[in-house]
Amino acid sequence: MKSRISFVCQECGYESPKFLGKCPECGEWNTLKEFKTSQPSTSTLVSKASSSLRSSAPRLISEIPYKVRGRISTGFSEADSVLGGGIVPGSVMLLAGDPGIGKSTLLLQIAANVAKEKGNSVLYISGEESEEQIKLRAERILKSPSSKLNLFLLSINNPDEVVEILQKTHPSLVIVDSIQTMESEALPGLSGSVGQVRYAGLQLSKAAKLLNIPVVLVGHVTKEGTIAGPMILSHMVDSVLFLEGEKTTGTRVLRSFKNRFGPVDEVGIFEMEGLGMKEVKNPELLFLSKKPDNQAGSVLVTTLEGTRPFLVEIQALVVFSKLPYPRRVVSGIDSRRLELLLAVLQKHAKIPVDSCDVFVNVAGGLRISDTAADLGVCLSIFSSYKNISLSKTVAIAEVGLLGELRNVSSLEKREKQAKSLGFRNIITAQNFDYLNSVLKKLGDESSHFVIKKYGKKQ
Ligand code: TYD
Ligand code: MG
Repeated sequence: MKSRISFVCQECGYESPKFLGKCPECGEWNTLKEFKTSQPSTSTLVSKASSSLRSSAPRLISEIPYKVRGRISTGFSEADSVLGGGIVPGSVMLLAGDPGIGKSTLLLQIAANVAKEKGNSVLYISGEESEEQIKLRAERILKSPSSKLNLFLLSINNPDEVVEILQKTHPSLVIVDSIQTMESEALPGLSGSVGQVRYAGLQLSKAAKLLNIPVVLVGHVTKEGTIAGPMILSHMVDSVLFLEGEKTTGTRVLRSFKNRFGPVDEVGIFEMEGLGMKEVKNPELLFLSKKPDNQAGSVLVTTLEGTRPFLVEIQALVVFSKLPYPRRVVSGIDSRRLELLLAVLQKHAKIPVDSCDVFVNVAGGLRISDTAADLGVCLSIFSSYKNISLSKTVAIAEVGLLGELRNVSSLEKREKQAKSLGFRNIITAQNFDYLNSVLKKLGDESSHFVIKKYGKKQ
């Protein structure tokens, strides 16, 4: 057994052969800890691996044997599309997310779906919960009776033991929940430390590759700790998936952040319910408010998540302010982008937003970073200011500093989506050149409307 001493930063995972007071990577002081790294079980694993895997001579690309192996379906079409068509055998995936967001729940359901198929067996390793606890949860959320599943549960936290078990049992899929609970005796440090997380990640991904077993590693990532902790594994794994969402709402977004075998930025939408996760089949409608009304201050925009356009409602409230610095309260879009759009409205559309409090909100708790929502934000503010209803209008354009409308990516796809959901009032940079001309047209239309209504009443 070879062993060597290295110093690993507990904050960012930087490794140095000698001790340093300050980490050159993240700049933190006194974070380098001594580690004796030894490779116990991989040496045995490597010796058992086929000789072709061990050969270190370069080979011609055409001579490398490659068998097309089918992907394994997770049983959720939303998750399959995020992975690029299912789980690739031998791939290592990291599922990261806030604690309590639903990672274990989703993976238990996926484990059951895979284990249901004939000839498959799934191993669910938990260092967090006992086998009884997992069984209890499974009984509650799984539809098929557990007696029919080839699903094995094991509560251990030694990654070397996990590797040995994989060699012996050869399951079709392995879930390790979570990587932070893995603690090897081969190196010092408690579970969750950078050294332990890295060691377990490395051993498990080597085993996955050599034995051709797909492995899902679960990593708890808090908002502050995106660099430390399991994210140090992101370069060793084949795909990094994030499960996101607000704990107060049931909507969960599965997002691929890195994917060697499929598209990145693809999203899958789930709903966390009392009986586990349910995939949302028509997520296009999810972020629209249930009751379309005719109130002022609401406009629809499209946002592209991965390759899919979603229709989202932007709400604005504009009221006159007595404050020397009027309030700008924004949720769901970048506050600096709002400042910019307000300046454009002030200068080019002569709307006196400098004396108004402006509140802007994206309905449904979604965060939009797509500039195609610019026009929608401007129109919602205009709608609230002028008190005219635009709630059935879909606005798809970027707004430039000169008040011009700019084309956005995948315009056709976005328009098609809006039309398929029954919306006819679609404003894009193709039918208007300037924000001002849009506002003028909408203002004129609404005044005609008021006059006509008046005419009818009299
Ligand atoms: P969990 O999957 O344990 O989260 P993670 O593994 O990401 O830490 O989910 C925990 C939360 O989900 C918990 O607050 C209860 C809730 N929950 C449901 O709403 N429905 C369910 O069917 C289950 C099993 C959990
Ligand atoms: Mg969990």
